[in-house]
Amino acid sequence: MSTSTPADAAPRNALPAWASGLWPAPTEPLTPPRSVSHPERRIVFEPMLESDLDSVHAVESQAYAHPWSRRHFHDSLKAGYPAILLLSQPLPGEVVHPPRADGRVLLGYLVAMPGVDEVHLLNITVATAHQRQGWARFMLDALGLWSRGQGAQWLWLEVRQGNAPARALYERCGFAQVGLRKGYYPAGHFQREDAVVMSLRLAPAAGGPTP
Ligand SMILES: CC(C)(COP(=O)(O)OP(=O)(O)OC[C@H]1O[C@@H](n2cnc3c(N)ncnc32)[C@H](O)[C@@H]1OP(=O)(O)O)[C@@H](O)C(=O)NCCC(=O)NCCS
Repeated sequence: MSTSTPADAAPRNALPAWASGLWPAPTEPLTPPRSVSHPERRIVFEPMLESDLDSVHAVESQAYAHPWSRRHFHDSLKAGYPAILLLSQPLPGEVVHPPRADGRVLLGYLVAMPGVDEVHLLNITVATAHQRQGWARFMLDALGLWSRGQGAQWLWLEVRQGNAPARALYERCGFAQVGLRKGYYPAGHFQREDAVVMSLRLAPAAGGPTP
């Protein structure tokens, strides 16, 4: 993972009240998360570490019929890909599930792979209990800002053709379909499922790439 822009690098006095750490550092405004059900939620972005993989994999296994294995996450971390957690202190009375050693709630995470002039989104997941509260959109906005800061012009991704929530999310965020990969994903019982390839053109970052 690229730890060159850890959430903690964000100047604290530039942070809005709803966040104690943002990724990337907030040199540009992020649209605040909607958090309709819990407007008092306070969040932080942190790099994913090996020690997070128990809770990450628990969320992953609940969210997908065909989840990534721990090995996928491990390999992404080893490769140095940006892998970011969205965490929160529990609200009063909130049960933290899956449990984490730090007692915090894992709302979601993303893993991406930087390319020459694009960043490829490999995984974005919101814990089932926290979906439809704007967290995925918020993480995609953050990834877009970070990618622009790296000089990327495009975000790319593949999504299962039958994954209607994810396709709706990406369309809502401005992604357009640019291709179809036949039989790209395993779908159980020796079946395969097509992948829809989508991309989003990023506006140039103000001031050019971040070193
Ligand atoms: C897809 C996923 C990441 C969306 O996360 P989320 O935090 O619930 O999404 P958001 O609340 O940010 O939703 C943003 C927009 O996406 C669309 N959307 C999200 N979930 C949707 C659903 N279940 N049905 C229809 N549209 C949906 C809507 O347009 C939504 O805007 P709205 O709530 O104002 O209508 C989440 O459902 C998830 O983790 N699914 C399992 C893992 C997965 O499929 N990841 C994507 C792999 S390619």
